[in-house]
Formats: sequence, structure tokens, C-alpha cells
Amino acid sequence: IPVDPFDLVIFGGTGDLARRKILPALFRRFCSGQMEDESRIIGAARSDHDQAEYRQMVADAIAEFNTSTTCEAGTIEAFVERIDYVHVDAKGEEGWDKLASMMHPNRVRAFYFSVAPSLFGDLAERLHRHGMADGESRIVVEKPFGRDLDTARALNDVLAQHFDESQIYRIDHYLGKETVQNLMAVRFGNMLFEPLWNSQYVDHIQITVAETVGVGGRGEYYDRSGAMRDMVQNHLMQLLCLIAMEPPAQFDPDAVRDEKLKVIRALNAVEPKDMVRGQYGRSEDGSDYLKDVENPRASSESFIAMRVGISNWRWAGTPFYLRTGKKLRARASEIAVVFKETPHSIFGPEAGRHRNILTIRLQPNEGMDLDVTIKEPGPGGMRLVDVPLDMTFAEALGPEAEDVPDAYERLIMDVIRGNQTLFMRGDEVEAAWAWTDPIIAGWEERGDRPVTYEPGSSGPEDSLALMHRDGRRWREIK
Ligand code: BG6
Repeated sequence: IPVDPFDLVIFGGTGDLARRKILPALFRRFCSGQMEDESRIIGAARSDHDQAEYRQMVADAIAEFNTSTTCEAGTIEAFVERIDYVHVDAKGEEGWDKLASMMHPNRVRAFYFSVAPSLFGDLAERLHRHGMADGESRIVVEKPFGRDLDTARALNDVLAQHFDESQIYRIDHYLGKETVQNLMAVRFGNMLFEPLWNSQYVDHIQITVAETVGVGGRGEYYDRSGAMRDMVQNHLMQLLCLIAMEPPAQFDPDAVRDEKLKVIRALNAVEPKDMVRGQYGRSEDGSDYLKDVENPRASSESFIAMRVGISNWRWAGTPFYLRTGKKLRARASEIAVVFKETPHSIFGPEAGRHRNILTIRLQPNEGMDLDVTIKEPGPGGMRLVDVPLDMTFAEALGPEAEDVPDAYERLIMDVIRGNQTLFMRGDEVEAAWAWTDPIIAGWEERGDRPVTYEPGSSGPEDSLALMHRDGRRWREIK
């Protein structure tokens, strides 16, 4: 279904995120017929380009970064017809009148701030001054949204001077992932799971986001952030919220975000003994974490595992184990809900111990499986075995499910539709920092240093011990 015609301005329109993610996502939505002919995309940046040069840059970016195969040949040319460029100075006056003159009346207007957060205030103020911040305008901002509670508050304040909360779309791209949305569909669209979704039946929950890549060319940013700020405060926290939250009364932005906020506010402080931090050691290609971040004394982490508790009626007593890291064995993100064993085995001790595990695979190979205990075939008595009820979406739903849309496709179209459900509200981000800050402050006070782990492994040995200590174990990263 096409969305209403829009003017979308991308500040930082020549930058990495625009080229890798935003423009290819818009292109794919164009291919699938979601963009009306009148819709316009305007790249805005400091460098001096004319329209033709920028269109060429966009075409090159799409050729390089578009992964979908469903777009027909010739569509790139048609797509770039909708593209304009304006040279603006975020901190000066240049270009703003021209940009204002390019806006069409009575159209959805969205401004994507794909720039350093230090420029958010300048952009918001100039949009306001040049008459582009009216009630119909929306702004989109990316992470990192601050590096602690104070800086996040300052960003919220600066945006709030010219925009209402209902106009601000804070992106966490994990919320745009198909399987992450599916998490809500599974929980609240089925009768089967919700009655069991609590500490009475769930032994523990594991959330793993494992990557094979290192910090790449983002060493400087990464050393200032570490996995805690880069991944846990946002992506893993959002996954935890969707798993743990109470059923919202409607699938609407504030109903969902209110419930997520309650989860964050109910998170316990994490004790040092419940965390393991790591840095990857030397790989075959000669790189190691300290070299990649260009800081031989770096105390930031490329891996973190932690045991988190939630103090509310539903979850008291059920630990949530989170882990994320770079240069691990495989790229595999999944959530595993591990149910308790049956209270009593009628088959005796030789039947072994079994439990149901619901695994939601976020990527790759998106899908779910549910380990169910059945009788091992054969005449050998009542031996039990666990088999997965496998639902790989691409197999169950056919070829359409194979071409999984990128998170940005969904999220950008939601901005145009004016649907904030999959975006973070200001108070949510602040609450997440309020939980994160004391953890990081504790490391700094104690002078904690991450341990080294082998690239291509499952992370530091100590992270395995974190589970063993509780008589549990991580699911294999594969
Ligand atoms: C980003 C982080 O937000 O998410 C990166 O800054 C990380 O460090 C990336 O690699 C992971 O995203 P995805 O979609 O590849 O799981």
C-alpha cells in the first residue's frame, strides 16, 4: 500500500549511514510500489554537489549496498528522478532558504538527522527558524542517543525546544527487524505461550547477539562506547523489554512504550560478580582489539555477558542472561526461553531431565523452534528425547519470507505513516541510561579491565562460568 506523498530530507545525505542503509531502504520501498510519484528525497550536507552528482552518488550506493533481488533493472534510474540535493551548513545560514523553498505544502515532511548528535540542536533550531518545524514535520534521530543519562537528557531537551515528542522518531534499528516484531506477534497473538510466560514456568531467558565482525573502521567511536553502550543499552535492552513486558492493551505507540518503560524501571542493579567483559585477542589477520581501537590501554569491551533480574511479580526469581560480542564464532542472534522441568518425572530417573525451550532466531535463518520432549522411537522402553518443532519462516511462509526486508525499510515508512510504535520514547532512553550509568561507573571506580578472549570463540571462559555457577549453560553459538 503506497504511503502518502512525502518530502524526506536526509541531513548527512552523503554519509555512511545514508549510503549503506537509508537510501537502499528507500529504493526497495520504491521498487515495491510504496512511494507515490510526487514523493521527494532531498540529500542535505555540507559538501558542494549539484543534483546530477548527488543522483550518481545515490545510484552508486544502491548498486553497492542493495541486497534485495526483487527490483527490476532500470528502476535505479527511475528512483533517482525523485532525488534532489541541497548544500546546507548546519551551523551557518547557507542553504536553509533554498531548502525551505523545496518543501511542498500539505505533504508529510520528515527530516532525518543522520549526523553527529552535537548538531541536533543546530538543525532543530534552523528548521524552526525557517518555518519547517510545524506540527506536520517529523524528525528522525539515530543512536547513539547520548552516552549517559545527562547527555541523553540534554539531547531530549534540545529537541523538545522545537519539536513535540509526537514528532520525534528515535531509531533503534533492532525494533525494525522482522523477527523482533514477530516476537510481539508470537507472544500476544497466541494463547499457547502467554499463560506460561512468567517465573512460575520459565527457568531463565537467554538473549545472545553474536557477531563475527570486529570493530572495523569505527575504532575511535567503539573505544569510547564499548559493547555496553553500543549494544546493551539499546538493542539488547529493547529485546529484553519485548520479551518481559506485560501485554499492552492495544498495539499503539504509547501503550507499548509504557509497558517497555515499566520493565526498564524494574531492572535490578547488576552486581560485579554477575558480569563478564572481554576484548578479542589476536586474529590470524594480525588484528586485535587494542590495535583496532588504536589504544594499547583501552579498557572498553568488545564482549559482555551479564545476569539481570527484574523485580516485578511476573519475573522475580527468573534470571535473564544477556551476552553480545564481536569476533565470535558465528553471526547468530537469538532469544531462548528455557522452561522449567516438569515437577515430577513419571518415567523415572533413567528417562533423563528434559525441558522445553522456545528459541526465537533473530538472524540469520529467521524463525523459531520449540524443543518438545517425546518418546525415543524403538522398543527400548520409555526413553525420552527432545526434538525441535521447527518453524523457519522462509520454509513455512514461502519465497516472500526469504527476502526479509531490512529494518530501515519498515522504520522509515512508519515515520511517513506517523506510527511511533517501533521508536523509542525520550523517557525510555533516559531510563535505559539510568540503569546503565551505575554499571559503567562501577567499572571505572574499580578500575575493572576486560579479559582477553580468542577470536572465533564463544567469548571469555568466565562468561561460561557465569552460567555454570547457576547450574545452567549457554546455548551454543552456531
Ligand atoms: C549497531 C552497532 O547499532 O548494530 C554495531 O553500532 C553492530 O556495532 C550493529 O555491529 C549490529 O546490527 P545488526 O543489524 O547487524 O545485528
